[in-house]
Amino acid sequence: MCGIVGYVGDKHKAQDVLLKGLKMLEYRGYDSCGVAMIADDEVFLERVEGRVSALEKKISGKKFNNILNGIAHTRWATHGLPSEANAHPHTDCDGDIVVVHNGIIENYIELKEGLKGHTFKSETDTEVIVHLIEENVKKLMKKDMGKRSEMLEPLFFEAFLNTLRKLKGSFAIAVIWKKAPGMILAARRFSPLVIGKGEGENFLASDVAGFIEWTKNVYFVDDNEVVFLDKNNVAFFNLDGKKINKELKTVNWDIKMAEKGGYKHFMLKEIFEQEMGFENTLMGRVLPVGKYILGNEMNLKEDDIKKFSMINFVACGTAYHAAYIGRYLFERMGMRADVDLASEFSSRSLVVDKNSLVVAISQSGETADTIDALRIAKKNGNKILAITNTLGSTITREADYVMYTHCGPEIAVASTKAFTSQLAALYVLALSFSYIRGNLLITKAREFAEELLSLAKLIKESLEINDYVEELADKFSAQDDYLFIGRGINYPVALEGALKLKEISYLHAEGYAAGEMKHGPIAIITNGMPVIVIATSSSDIDLVRGNIEETRARGGVVVAVVDKNSKQKIRADYYLEVPYASECFMPVLNIIPLQLFAYWTAVRRGTDIDKPRNLAKSVTVK
Ligand code: F6R
Repeated sequence: MCGIVGYVGDKHKAQDVLLKGLKMLEYRGYDSCGVAMIADDEVFLERVEGRVSALEKKISGKKFNNILNGIAHTRWATHGLPSEANAHPHTDCDGDIVVVHNGIIENYIELKEGLKGHTFKSETDTEVIVHLIEENVKKLMKKDMGKRSEMLEPLFFEAFLNTLRKLKGSFAIAVIWKKAPGMILAARRFSPLVIGKGEGENFLASDVAGFIEWTKNVYFVDDNEVVFLDKNNVAFFNLDGKKINKELKTVNWDIKMAEKGGYKHFMLKEIFEQEMGFENTLMGRVLPVGKYILGNEMNLKEDDIKKFSMINFVACGTAYHAAYIGRYLFERMGMRADVDLASEFSSRSLVVDKNSLVVAISQSGETADTIDALRIAKKNGNKILAITNTLGSTITREADYVMYTHCGPEIAVASTKAFTSQLAALYVLALSFSYIRGNLLITKAREFAEELLSLAKLIKESLEINDYVEELADKFSAQDDYLFIGRGINYPVALEGALKLKEISYLHAEGYAAGEMKHGPIAIITNGMPVIVIATSSSDIDLVRGNIEETRARGGVVVAVVDKNSKQKIRADYYLEVPYASECFMPVLNIIPLQLFAYWTAVRRGTDIDKPRNLAKSVTVK
């Protein structure tokens, strides 16, 4: 996810403002960081692998006079391992132009190929931006034949605009140039960027937390907007260089609120980041290039994909529920698949076919049970594919192939955005595997890909239910027992809904396959007991309707997750309506009201939502 900060002015020591800003943004990523400032006609650049405190130590005691501007970055690696060389800021060949970036440049390989003669010093997608600016500056200077040598700011601005027009993907960028001191240029597309307006100084950051200590006057930058900042002015432009008027707003957040983007808890913030996480995970992987293709980042050859006999998923907790959905998905798309709890893998005398691809899913990439299962499978001779959110984690080093989810660091212990971004990765895998193996015709593959690409928007729509879910959670606040039921691909959604409620509200919640109710669990239904049923459109909807009637007949209060079509078919006490999508995509939308329900119930119970008792974010013991 990464955090960026920028400062222009001389009211404060730039290094203090930048380091403080980075500390406030460390929740966005913390595997490496760096700072660059222009002072006395020199670029000062320092980077470290590790946290901001290490960077602070490295530059402490250094004296900087006449600093005009500076930019800084704290990183959550996406392209290139966490290391000093890959840490931002990145510079052009001469070290004069300096850039920080949050986001993913989708077409960086293509752009890099066009930058002949440039020396690249990192493995990042970001570095291409600064070399492109350099290239554009040189072209404009040549065209100008020195006419603008006194006025390099407009030339820098034009070079920046020309660069932005070439970039595909997501970005919040800030750039400075030794030859145009006292100014910062910035731009945004799909990654957050805010500007802080001061008196005789100005700021920029990935969110308000980055400068809240110095100013509460804020401009919120929109997509495809470009910003010019010097110490006295802030100006906004579109990509054609046309000036835009923007409203200055005042925020009344304290530092703690600002760090969480105005949300009370990281969990709620992360629930609301799911559109971003889903979209980022698809980015560059499902491309409308004549036909839809899978970005081949994993080095997984088509021939190998054709040879795998089946898929065996292993994972724990929430990642296990995502894997369970993956099993349904692969089976529906014509490939055999199985799923195991990683912690049970070693206890079974499991006979996994050697030709099966073992897919280990783990947000942290450090879960001991999952790593153990991976090692057992490796010993068995299986190839391993890891789906993880954490670059350089243990799982990535031991797996044969790695597919990253790109939802940024998940801070709250209860996993939310990691789950939906794991689903995004699974959709991409299922699509490409079944297409390559000939189970899916090109027309069907296109339809699937098109719907997949439209899902992020539907996630956003699903989140509109938040206020209603808060009211509903209030109604049930005296209840101690909850049942969650679903069928088919929505059965794991019921499991995940129950897990979310248990872990943060400490209430008794059970997830069941709806068809299993009559084999036992129905006995626990008493008058007024809340039963949450996943009842969106599916081939099983008539059976789900039957389960709802059985529940109602025993006094259960039915809360049904529905879409506009299924709503007419069932009788419930309360409806949680989500947008309609094809059945295989519904888990992504259905889980959202359940995450919110768990969150608001926990708020009512006054629990420690981001750090629930007895739990840890990364479970590194067996
Ligand atoms: C639930 C939760 C845990 C994790 C599980 C696996 O909200 O966070 O159940 O999903 O511990 O963690 P990772 O994905 O890091 O392997």
